[in-house]
Amino acid sequence: MPFKKDFLWGGAVSANQCEGAWNVDGKGISCADICTGGTHTQPKRITPVLEEGTFYPSHEAIDFYHHYKEDIALLAEMGFKVFRFSVNWTRIFPTGEEEEPNERGLEFYDKVIDQCLKYHIEPLITLSHYEVPLALTQKYNGWASREMIALFKKYCQVLFERYKGKVKYWLTFNEINSATGPFGGFLSQGILNPGTKDFMHPVDIPQLRFQGLHHQFVASAEVVRMAHEIDPEYKVGCMQLFATMYPLTCNPDDVVACQKFNRVKNWFCSDVQVRGEYPAYMKRYFKEHHICVKMEEGDTQILKEGCVDFYTFSYYMTGCISAKLDQRQAEGNLIGGLANPYLKASDWGWQIDPKGLHYSLNEIYDRYQIPVMVVENGLGAFDKIEEDGTIQDDYRIDYLRHHIIQMKEAVEDGGDLMGYTPWGCIDLVSASAGEMAKRYGFIYVEKYDDGTGDLSRRKKKSFDWYKKVIESNGEIL
Ligand code: BG6
Repeated sequence: MPFKKDFLWGGAVSANQCEGAWNVDGKGISCADICTGGTHTQPKRITPVLEEGTFYPSHEAIDFYHHYKEDIALLAEMGFKVFRFSVNWTRIFPTGEEEEPNERGLEFYDKVIDQCLKYHIEPLITLSHYEVPLALTQKYNGWASREMIALFKKYCQVLFERYKGKVKYWLTFNEINSATGPFGGFLSQGILNPGTKDFMHPVDIPQLRFQGLHHQFVASAEVVRMAHEIDPEYKVGCMQLFATMYPLTCNPDDVVACQKFNRVKNWFCSDVQVRGEYPAYMKRYFKEHHICVKMEEGDTQILKEGCVDFYTFSYYMTGCISAKLDQRQAEGNLIGGLANPYLKASDWGWQIDPKGLHYSLNEIYDRYQIPVMVVENGLGAFDKIEEDGTIQDDYRIDYLRHHIIQMKEAVEDGGDLMGYTPWGCIDLVSASAGEMAKRYGFIYVEKYDDGTGDLSRRKKKSFDWYKKVIESNGEIL
């Protein structure tokens, strides 16, 4: 049996994409709350001032805030061993700078965690999942400023102290490496440069993004150290968007161009977070891109002393790199890359590549030799309710099955795989497109892009399938 006996099967969500209740019980406004709905072809907009009559999908989302009990009960019915969710920073510190945390916000997470523990589900908490408090964007331009480090630490300390003995696994920043490209500047770091309107094409200042990443690395390292001091049982991981790229051809020019791309996009952030120092190859990248990262005395030491305990990543797609062609051709692929003629793509243009997961897991484990977890994977698809009320999502089952088969291969190859939490185990708002129509869940939620829907939940065909997968520890697929 390739998977460990205590393999962590489960699913993942983020606060801003499922909770709703955006201004309830003292919650502040986060960067996600000023993003409008969008579609695959019409990018969502960023509106620093909320517009009357505009639909903001995070405001109600699927209202997990009021449905968490029934939702977690459904996850338990599938046999979940772990549930990955994020705490929304703005529920705890509404503007990020209050003296005292917001007790009502904490009470909500007390209830969510207790509900998980009731069913013996291990909570896996992301501390920052695209939810920078808007007030910190307005005052500091988000992670571009060093002030963010102390504010983030204060927020994490509250959680580490409160959930000691209840929670074991934490992740610092969701897809931290998304900020190696323009797209992640606002989404992940809360950096909003004047003139930005379009979510997918923000006004970009690379210097700020990379300076922001440095601040996040220092924050991550300090938080890892603090977590271990508060509870030696705590395990803190990094979280990367891993979209490996293949050379488009075996022309050595393509191979070298591809290596260069992968180093910066896929490896840079985890090299720092796992090994505790900047990799040598970034010197040249910074020089060629006129980026100068300002470090303070002591930062090198902090990074060294705050290496993560485990490595986690999201895996949705791969692409190809050519030394000659424009890499933006693979439309829909978030981090660029050309279309791979051997792969099919989802309706949103994400190239589906199960074998790439085997390859990626091997690459990751060979490089770091620490436990690894796939904390996001899944197929965003249009689902249809049949006349008899069922949802026959065989395409989703097929996608997940093939990815699990490839995880097995990587385990057979010797990798230390801790668990698997497919994304959006319950339907939620899409992060890139801002729409409900792109569904990932085992559980369908009646919520639509015009804001209608009674929020009722129903099981899809994949619900029973995944239940059997978990029951059999991945043997019955
Ligand atoms: C990851 C994010 O990028 O992919 C999630 O961590 C996101 O927040 C997921 O939802 C799927 O992307 P999308 O754009 O289809 O929601």
